[in-house]
Amino acid sequence: ADKKMWGGRFAEGTAASMEAYSESVSFDRLLYAEDIRGSQAHARVLAKQGFLTEAEAKTLCDGLDQVKAEIESGDFEWKTEMEDVHMNIESRLTDIIGPLGGKLHTARSRNDQVALDFRLHVGARLAGWQQALSMLVEVFVTRAEEHKETMLPGCTHFQPAQPVSLAHHLLAYCQMFKRDHERVTDCLKRVRVMPLGAAALAGTTHPVNPQAVADDLGIGEIFANSMDAVSDRDFVLEAVFAGSLVMAHLSRMCEEIIIWANPNFGYVKLPDQYSTGSSIMPQKKNPDACEIMRGKTGRVVGSLMGLLVLIKGLPMTYNRDMQEDKEPFFDADKTVSASLTIMADMFKQIEFVPEKMAATVKRGFLNATELADYLAAKGVPFREAHHITGAVVAHAEQKGVGIEDLDLAELKQFSGDINDDVFGVLDYAAAIERRTSPGGTGPASVAKQIDTLKGWLKIV
Ligand code: ARG
Repeated sequence: ADKKMWGGRFAEGTAASMEAYSESVSFDRLLYAEDIRGSQAHARVLAKQGFLTEAEAKTLCDGLDQVKAEIESGDFEWKTEMEDVHMNIESRLTDIIGPLGGKLHTARSRNDQVALDFRLHVGARLAGWQQALSMLVEVFVTRAEEHKETMLPGCTHFQPAQPVSLAHHLLAYCQMFKRDHERVTDCLKRVRVMPLGAAALAGTTHPVNPQAVADDLGIGEIFANSMDAVSDRDFVLEAVFAGSLVMAHLSRMCEEIIIWANPNFGYVKLPDQYSTGSSIMPQKKNPDACEIMRGKTGRVVGSLMGLLVLIKGLPMTYNRDMQEDKEPFFDADKTVSASLTIMADMFKQIEFVPEKMAATVKRGFLNATELADYLAAKGVPFREAHHITGAVVAHAEQKGVGIEDLDLAELKQFSGDINDDVFGVLDYAAAIERRTSPGGTGPASVAKQIDTLKGWLKIV
């Protein structure tokens, strides 16, 4: 029993099944670099506070560097019986430098240690998400700039509604991903809080200096309450929520790409690199990257749900249940990071087919609102103008033509207010150009959106 670090009061060893059941080193070894970084800061500050000599702190830090080198070269032997990453590292450190290694854990508990390691890790990964998010926005802005003149049938209820520029549509996604970026910035404020010094739960009698540890690690803030410091997992839930929303946004984009790639739409041609074929149907080109991304969204949302259920019944403070907080984050991180990169790379290569988009714009009475607005501008109450236009649409539909294909005499039967100038208004491209309202699909608004996003990309 005494081979366990905590084994002093135990007469019997752990059951093999319990050891396998409770270990976390198989996954939390991912935190080794943060664990070592945190321990080195802890040792330096213990010296600063006069608890260790400078020489002792140096020996500890050098020993930890050696452990790190062993891990990175693949020479490190991870031991399940050492439970987790923290005890594996500390135990190896003591092998290397002797009993001094045992002083490292002074004024510290694994409860505040794991909170620090995980916060450092989540913080670093969220910074990675932000980089990937801004790369994605950059790709979308570039594609939008190429398609300022491309007409797309804008939809509501997924039914043809009004013409918009493809640029405007893509810029809408930029806003989603920009908000995701901002959400992560906000989340980081709560991730970057330094919990070391809370010890097990109540604080410590040793002369710790949490602010000095925070400064050493380049984290601004320290915990306010030692019990909260070891029991708080809000930061990881928020991070996985931010990731879930990123995935939901990507998934919406995927859904559209899948629809657009269907030959009945034919708005896009997918890059070969991100498509697959069928083993039986030789003509097939399937949008698998988008489908997988849409599917993996469920996985990340599942991680979020898992975390919410994990914490909902936990009494103060640290509970071993909380060890289950790591894998959902690791898994979500893997998915979010890969999805952002793949979407950016795929979107660079997607080929748009403006003729196909223009053809559908002309098939769905997308200029009906123009006619109603035209009549309203002539003084017809909008409700009445709407009704008149509805009758025009029904008439054109029956003839199998567009509103613009009807001649003036025909149109006049519906309203005497319709004159020759109506045809300029019914023009689809004009419908886009005339939408000069702020944030609308008009060219000035689109240009402004592109400018603003480019400015934003420079500062993030
Ligand atoms: N492996 C544990 C975790 O991830 C570390 C903290 C364990 N603390 C304890 N008192 N058992 O949560």
